[in-house]
Amino acid sequence: MSSQIPPASPFSGKYALVTGSGRGIGRAIALHLARLGADVAVNFFRNRQPAEETAAEIENLGRRAPVIKADVGDLDDLNRMFDEVEANFGGLDIFIHNAASGYNRPAMQQKPKGWDWTLNINARALLFAAQRAAPLMERRGGGAIVSITSPGSQRVLPEYVVVGASKAALESLTRYLAVELAPQNIVVNAVSPGVVETDALAHFDAIRSDEHLIEKAIAATPAGRLVSPQDVANVVAFLCTPEASMIRGQVIVVDGGYTLPAR
Ligand SMILES: NC(=O)c1ccc[n+]([C@@H]2O[C@H](COP(=O)([O-])OP(=O)(O)OC[C@H]3O[C@@H](n4cnc5c(N)ncnc54)[C@H](OP(=O)(O)O)[C@@H]3O)[C@@H](O)[C@H]2O)c1
Repeated sequence: MSSQIPPASPFSGKYALVTGSGRGIGRAIALHLARLGADVAVNFFRNRQPAEETAAEIENLGRRAPVIKADVGDLDDLNRMFDEVEANFGGLDIFIHNAASGYNRPAMQQKPKGWDWTLNINARALLFAAQRAAPLMERRGGGAIVSITSPGSQRVLPEYVVVGASKAALESLTRYLAVELAPQNIVVNAVSPGVVETDALAHFDAIRSDEHLIEKAIAATPAGRLVSPQDVANVVAFLCTPEASMIRGQVIVVDGGYTLPAR
C-alpha cells in the first residue's frame, strides 16, 4: 500500500513578495514561505536593519531574498517595488499585502492627512499592487494574493476609526479582485488575525494604559492563548496552495475564537 507523503517544499521554485516583512507578522510570513521553498522579496519602509535580518535568514535557507525599500502608500514607490521584483524574479506567484500603518486617535480628532496616509497604505496599495502583480502572475500561469486585515473592519475598536475604515475597504477590494482576477487563475483572499503580540500594539494608548490588557485578551480567547505571527503565516501559506484554490474573496478569521462570544 502506498502512503502519500506531502512534498516538503510546496513552494519550491515559486516567487513571493511580502510587504512590511522586516518585522512582526510580515516577517513570520516571509520566513514561512521561504521554509516552504519560495524565494521571497522582503519589503520595508523605515527600518532597513530588521529587513536585512529577515533576508539573511531566508538566504540561510538557500533561497533568494532581495530587499526592497518602498512606501507602499506612495504610487511611485509601489511601482518601483514591482519593477525591482520583476528585475529579480521575472514573474511573481505570491503577493502578500501585509504592511499597514495608521493614525490611532478618536474620530473627532482625525485629520484629512491621517485619512489619506492610512487609506493609501492599507487599502489603495492593494488595488494598484494588484494591477502590477497580475501581469507578473499571468506569466507564471496564475498566482495568489493575500492581504492582512483586522477585526476593526467590522467591529469598533478604541481609536481605530481610520484603520478600521481602511481595512473595510481592503476586504471589499479583496472580493472585487477575487472575481476580476479569477480568469487569470489568480486567487485573492484576506486573513484577519486577532490580537497578535507585535510592535504594532505599542501604538495603542488603550494597551499602554492597561498593563493587563494582553492577559485580558488571553483570558477572553477560547483557544487560551494569543494568536502568534506563525499562526497567521500558516493560514496565509495555505491560501497560496492549490488545495485552497476554491476559497475566493474570503476573509479568514484567525483569532482563537476571540470574536465569537457576545460581550
Ligand atoms: N498585531 C496585531 O495584533 C494585528 C491584528 C490584526 C491585524 N494586524 C495586521 O497585520 C499586519 C501586520 O501587523 P504587525 O502587527 O506585524 O505590524 P508591525 O509590527 O507594526 O509592522 C508593520 C510593518 O509594516 C511595514 N510598513 C508600515 N508602513 C509601511 C509602508 N508605508 N510601506 C511599506 N511597509 C510599511 C513596517 O515596515 P518598517 O518597519 O520598515 O516601517 C513593518 O514591517 C497589518 O496589516 C496589521 O493591520 C495586526
